[in-house]
Amino acid sequence: MAARVLILCLLAAELGAQVLHPNFDLETPQLEKLFTNQWESVLPKVLQNPRRFLSLLDKVLQSDAGLWILVDKEHPLPVDYAPTDLVSLDGLSVPVRRSGLSVRALVLPALSSLVQAARREGLNLVVSSAFRSYETQRALFASYARRDGEARANTYSARAGHSQHQLGTTLDFGDVTNAFAETPEGQWLKANAWRFGFSLSYPRGHEARTGYQWESWHWRYIGFEACVLQRDFFDDLQYLMLTWLHEHKDLLRRVRRAP
Ligand code: DAL
Ligand code: ZN
Repeated sequence: MAARVLILCLLAAELGAQVLHPNFDLETPQLEKLFTNQWESVLPKVLQNPRRFLSLLDKVLQSDAGLWILVDKEHPLPVDYAPTDLVSLDGLSVPVRRSGLSVRALVLPALSSLVQAARREGLNLVVSSAFRSYETQRALFASYARRDGEARANTYSARAGHSQHQLGTTLDFGDVTNAFAETPEGQWLKANAWRFGFSLSYPRGHEARTGYQWESWHWRYIGFEACVLQRDFFDDLQYLMLTWLHEHKDLLRRVRRAP
């Protein structure tokens, strides 16, 4: 009799504590706790389809951490951060505004597919800026600060160590003004970049949160699954997703069963 009661109790406990995804040691109450404060709007979408959320998250966590590391005004890159797999865009089929641009090798297939897809639509997506070293960014910010003053420069240029360009995964397209948003290339990119894994870093209307002016030309490669996760769960806002990943990365590492 006692054994039967024990088995029934275990069964009930098992049903009550349903694991949501085979790769995560996570149950609904724990999952809910991950979406307080600025992520409250995300929670209803996650609860609607937790398994899909966790499947996409699993893919993102499997990807190179440089793709989803948070870099903003409060979160600098480690001082010695420098990609080791940079490749030059010179002599490739990717249109560039000037020679000497480079990106991380893992971005190149997606970038090539992106510009080829645009070309098939009769559009010419030109890369204006790509990887920038800590030192290049330092000199760039200093020159803007001399020209416009430090406070003004800080609204459109990152200080050294705080630029997504130092990741080697971020690209500027077109003439690097918001006139780009009105061009066929800018409009096509806005509609299609996610399919190739590129995400807009500084959207219009979110200046207070990102700390930067709207930059319709500045796109960070985060990968296809990350773009879908961003679009379907994080209000299509890169900073909302990357800050969430940053805040919870240690916990996620602990509850993730996959290697
Ligand atoms: N223009 C962006 C914020 C950068 O300098 O990285
Ligand atoms: Zn940029």
